[in-house]
Amino acid sequence: MALCGPATHRLSLVCSKSHARTRRPRKSRGSGVVHILAAYDVTGREGVQVAGYEEGQLDRPRWVGATPLSRLVGALISFKPLYSLLKLGARRVLINTAEKKNIPWREMTKEILESDVYKELESIQSPSVVYPDYYLNPFHAYDEGNLSWLAAAEAEAATLSMARRVVPGASSLHEANEIVRGNWLQAIEQHHLQYSGNSMIRDILDIGCSVGVSTGYLADKFPSAKVTGLDLSPYFLAAAQFKEKKRFPRKNPISWIHANGEDTGLSSNSFDIVSMAYVHHECPKRAIVNLVKEAFRLLRPGGTVAFTDTSPKSKILQELSPVLFTLMKSTEPFLDEYYLTDLEGTMREVGFVNIRTLLTDPRHRTVTGTVPR
Ligand SMILES: C[S@@+](CC[C@H](N)C(=O)[O-])C[C@H]1O[C@@H](n2cnc3c(N)ncnc32)[C@H](O)[C@@H]1O
Repeated sequence: MALCGPATHRLSLVCSKSHARTRRPRKSRGSGVVHILAAYDVTGREGVQVAGYEEGQLDRPRWVGATPLSRLVGALISFKPLYSLLKLGARRVLINTAEKKNIPWREMTKEILESDVYKELESIQSPSVVYPDYYLNPFHAYDEGNLSWLAAAEAEAATLSMARRVVPGASSLHEANEIVRGNWLQAIEQHHLQYSGNSMIRDILDIGCSVGVSTGYLADKFPSAKVTGLDLSPYFLAAAQFKEKKRFPRKNPISWIHANGEDTGLSSNSFDIVSMAYVHHECPKRAIVNLVKEAFRLLRPGGTVAFTDTSPKSKILQELSPVLFTLMKSTEPFLDEYYLTDLEGTMREVGFVNIRTLLTDPRHRTVTGTVPR
């Protein structure tokens, strides 16, 4: 099967031997601001521009918050029979779009569901985990949310499909992934190089690791670090562990932890990088605030936090068609709260410094910050 996950591809982004630096945002013709992620070689000379994505003119999309459009969408979704139809529609659109783009969604799902993945559950599931209320909602068109084998089996195809959707102009799935994951990794590495005071990257925590795709990318990018993936879904973690066992063994094997990222129970000051990729939009505001606080507690002084998720300022998201955003909102119950949360302000209140926000692909921002030394 032609997969483009961490198990089968190493990132070789435009500037693999270099690190990137953020230029000051510049005004684009017509509308918003363009964020440039420019590549610099190891001597600090400017190299190839690897990303330049445009912001819309609004602070957030019109379909968020208390706007008439948002209320209309909310009313449509809260009408149960319509919600069920939307949910099915959203699912069908997701699967068909993925398969049209050569992501073998059904085949990948079947392969996991018919494997020995189930054997991993016992060793990974922690009986002491208490699920927060928001985690028990139907989610992403799954009635059991993230707590199901089907969600675990489909997660990698959904992730690949996301990258393809985000960079429609990419010539291949591989290229789309390189842009989405590569720019995110560059933003983390560059932030750490610039602000950590040369502290080594020894320990990395990937909160909300799902089936381990982001964790694998982090482990590939920082091979001398000890990387841990943490998630609330034992099914996702079982799939992550199962897939990782099938790949070529790493010098530093990844560890997997079943816990709530809001209160991990891990030791304070024990990580150099804490990453959360595409986690916040699945959470209500109170959980986002707790996740930011927990990241701060877990990081060593000089450590880097990196939150990547959809950007309220993305021009593409602000211009999304009403049909598409209604479908999207029907499977993402906390999108409104996510878009209305001032993430950078929360980080500042919690104590992070050097807070930087960068559109690392057309739809997503990566927000990085440092724990003061
Ligand atoms: C979209 S997935 C993340 C994808 C993954 N990080 C990647 O980049 O491929 C979001 C994940 O966050 C997890 N999650 C949501 N709330 C969480 C919490 N409070 N603690 C830990 N994990 C959480 C979900 O179980 C889900 O696996």
